[in-house]
Amino acid sequence: MLILSFESSCDETACAIVEMGEGKREILSDKVASQISIHKLYGGVVPEIASRAHTEAISGLTREAFAEAGVGMSDVGAVAVTNEPGLIGALLVGVNFAKGIAAANGKPLVPVNHIRGHIAANYLAHKELEPPFTAFVASGGHTSIIDVRDYTDFRTIGATRDDAAGEAFDKVARLLGMSYPGGAEMDALANNGDPEAIRFPSAASFPGTLDLSFSGLKTAVINYIHNLEQKGEPIPRADVCASFTRAVCESIVKRLSEALDLTGKDKLVVAGGVSANSHLRRALGDLAKKRGISLYMPPLSLCGDNGAMIGAQGYYEYLAGNVAESGLNAFATKR
Ligand code: KG4
Ligand code: ZN
Repeated sequence: MLILSFESSCDETACAIVEMGEGKREILSDKVASQISIHKLYGGVVPEIASRAHTEAISGLTREAFAEAGVGMSDVGAVAVTNEPGLIGALLVGVNFAKGIAAANGKPLVPVNHIRGHIAANYLAHKELEPPFTAFVASGGHTSIIDVRDYTDFRTIGATRDDAAGEAFDKVARLLGMSYPGGAEMDALANNGDPEAIRFPSAASFPGTLDLSFSGLKTAVINYIHNLEQKGEPIPRADVCASFTRAVCESIVKRLSEALDLTGKDKLVVAGGVSANSHLRRALGDLAKKRGISLYMPPLSLCGDNGAMIGAQGYYEYLAGNVAESGLNAFATKR
């Protein structure tokens, strides 16, 4: 079954066509129009600008997705769209566009949760992967540990209480003079630094829960940098990157170990923009080896926001009967 899918929850407009079912999990096309160059000027995503940029990009991107896939609207079985969580104005662009296309062509419309979509990127990359498993999703807006019992049965068992992991990377990157979003640049510069050079605190944990908080760690980095600035001393940027990254990775590994103890699952699935981090990927690889579990991560091309992941999850939502009425709405936070 071909799924036409749309993603517009933040600063990437994305449209994809995927083929799912009957042993297939294929990406026929996956077009992403990034707005990063626009938002960079402001040091972060400006919601109204994001909505307007989605509005300008979405029609052309859809034409490109069909051309690249070499299929037509009549071949499509369902239309999937991210409707939560995200920037509300941005989500509404994708939801209304998808609604129009679905209604005009008599196709079922399937709402998809963005975080579920990130996890589903792994179905496209690992054809054999099936629930149940424990998932870790870390992006610019979300950091959650999820007990995935079935394709559409999710329980969040841990989450950040403040900044998302990607947000913490981006804020530290900004302090170091990198442009938004600085996660990938931090990743690269950390390779040149000493992870043991500065003892930053771990991300905070909360006894009896699997929650974590990056704000104390972020403040420790801010204080460290300000202190050196006040003394007129140079900032060892690579060491800051490496030491901050070590603190983030260690905290995540610790929480995930506890989560795996709790769920008893032997599969760990990782997703979201931050899962592109090479140091985190290595640390999680070590964790999986130590525990003798299987680790699934998307290729770098499917870590960040994309339409294919929404199509993949959309297929399972469709199978579960989660088809929307014409009044489908978007929601900034998960209901
Ligand atoms: O999943 P995503 O594309 O969008 C959201 O749903 O938020 O994630 C974007 C986030 C940004 O914060 C970005 O800096 C971060 O993922 N990111 C990284 C890396 N690549 C992207 N963070 C750390 N290391 C990376 N290599
Ligand atoms: Zn995302």
